[in-house]
Amino acid sequence: MGYPHPRHPRETPVLSEHFGDPAARTLAGWKARGGYQALEQALAMDPVAVQNVVKDSGLRGRGGAGFPAGIKWSFMKPDGKPHYLCCNGDESEPGTFKDREIMRWTPHALVEGVATAMHAIYAETGYIYIRGEFTEPLEAVTAAVREAYAAGILGANAMGTGRRLDIHVHKGAGAYICGEETALMNSLEGKRGNPRIKPPFPAVAGLFGKPTTINNVETLTAAAHVVRRGAEWYKAMGRPDNPKSTGTKLFSVCGNVARPGNYEVTLGFPFKDFLWELCGGAPDGRRIKAVIPGGSSVPILTAEECEAVFMDYEGMAAAGTLLGSGGVIVFDDTADMPRQIARLARFYAHESCAQCSQCREGTAWTTRILERICRGEGSFEDLDTLLEIGEQMSGKTICVLSDSCATPVASGLRKFRHEFEAKIGKKQGKAFVPSAYPTGLTPAAAGSAP
Ligand SMILES: Cc1cc2nc3c(=O)[nH]c(=O)nc-3n(C[C@H](O)[C@H](O)[C@H](O)COP(=O)(O)O)c2cc1C
Ligand code: SF4
Repeated sequence: MGYPHPRHPRETPVLSEHFGDPAARTLAGWKARGGYQALEQALAMDPVAVQNVVKDSGLRGRGGAGFPAGIKWSFMKPDGKPHYLCCNGDESEPGTFKDREIMRWTPHALVEGVATAMHAIYAETGYIYIRGEFTEPLEAVTAAVREAYAAGILGANAMGTGRRLDIHVHKGAGAYICGEETALMNSLEGKRGNPRIKPPFPAVAGLFGKPTTINNVETLTAAAHVVRRGAEWYKAMGRPDNPKSTGTKLFSVCGNVARPGNYEVTLGFPFKDFLWELCGGAPDGRRIKAVIPGGSSVPILTAEECEAVFMDYEGMAAAGTLLGSGGVIVFDDTADMPRQIARLARFYAHESCAQCSQCREGTAWTTRILERICRGEGSFEDLDTLLEIGEQMSGKTICVLSDSCATPVASGLRKFRHEFEAKIGKKQGKAFVPSAYPTGLTPAAAGSAP
């Protein structure tokens, strides 16, 4: 049961160090690799001190929005109310497949991270919400929680400290929207997984109406490393000139790429080297045409744009896109961009919870128009209509699923308009010459051929 992706020497494996090592899955194996030292250290500290270490480290949420984890934890005050920690293991963002690997290979690392965060936010109860289709991760995390209870790491007297730490594993039912934090809480409460209007924010009224912190699987696993090895160690990893993005990050790479898989690099890694040197560029000597760098909800980059980008929150923002969840989707020069973008829109239309009319109608109409263009039945006016609908769908809804659909459509249309126009022009029988065809990059042109 090995891990399929061979480690590249330029990776920095922290979270993924034990991927592919079945022995790391058991409690004994995890302890032999330094496991549960972070929790032991945390339990000996005041919760505010734990919050401060994580704050100082600069660790930011890895679920997509990049909110600083320590600051989020510091919203939780000792107010005598029950507090809850939710761990978001729903991971349904197209192109993202890192959390499932943490849960599958190092379930105790996650349990340790969850328990550490629970101590820091004054919570006695934590929930690990795992997407229903993740059979193996579910089994691994459930077994790890059981082992941790049996060893007295969890329970009424966690690690002999008198502190109660209870963790429940919850199996989701496979709805993308249940990864949105407030929908996840509704789902945990047994309700339909609809996002809630904010405010109130979860730190004020979250799960069961009580103060709640929600973090991604990768965030919580990284937090345990931070507590064990210290803020300075974590901060030292990243671009020296960018203290806002620290540590390592797991990037899932899929699509038209020679070596797909999960790669762990320090934030600020050059995207050009990442794509062509680590991942081997496009397969079979083809050229990369476009990349969605942060899960399907973020703006698309052309291959040329990828050349000068740093893989951190600020670097991606400077290129007009987002680091998001770190799901890197690669398209080579054979990819039909209108078809690919229509496929993404269909996903969002299918997953909309339908509470907001802009999202319910907008995702559906966007999909219909894109699919009609792909069938060769579109008009040039459709392109403007798509952009107009996208504007109406953005910044106006309860959650950002609506924006997530509009964003790749708008950027795809802006950057690959000629491909849409070619489909429409063909239908109208006009000789259509695309104006600005992006050339893409060959590995050699990128200067880092594998
Ligand atoms: C539609 C939608 C789906 C989401 N899906 C996930 C998900 O699968 N996993 C995740 O960690 N965050 C997801 N998020 C982000 C969460 O709402 C939340 O920001 C995150 O879990 C916070 O954790 P972090 O601060 O550690 O990143 C999603 C957000 C939206 C709007
Ligand atoms: S934006 Fe879409 S998914 Fe989000 S709450 Fe509104 S309808 Fe539901």
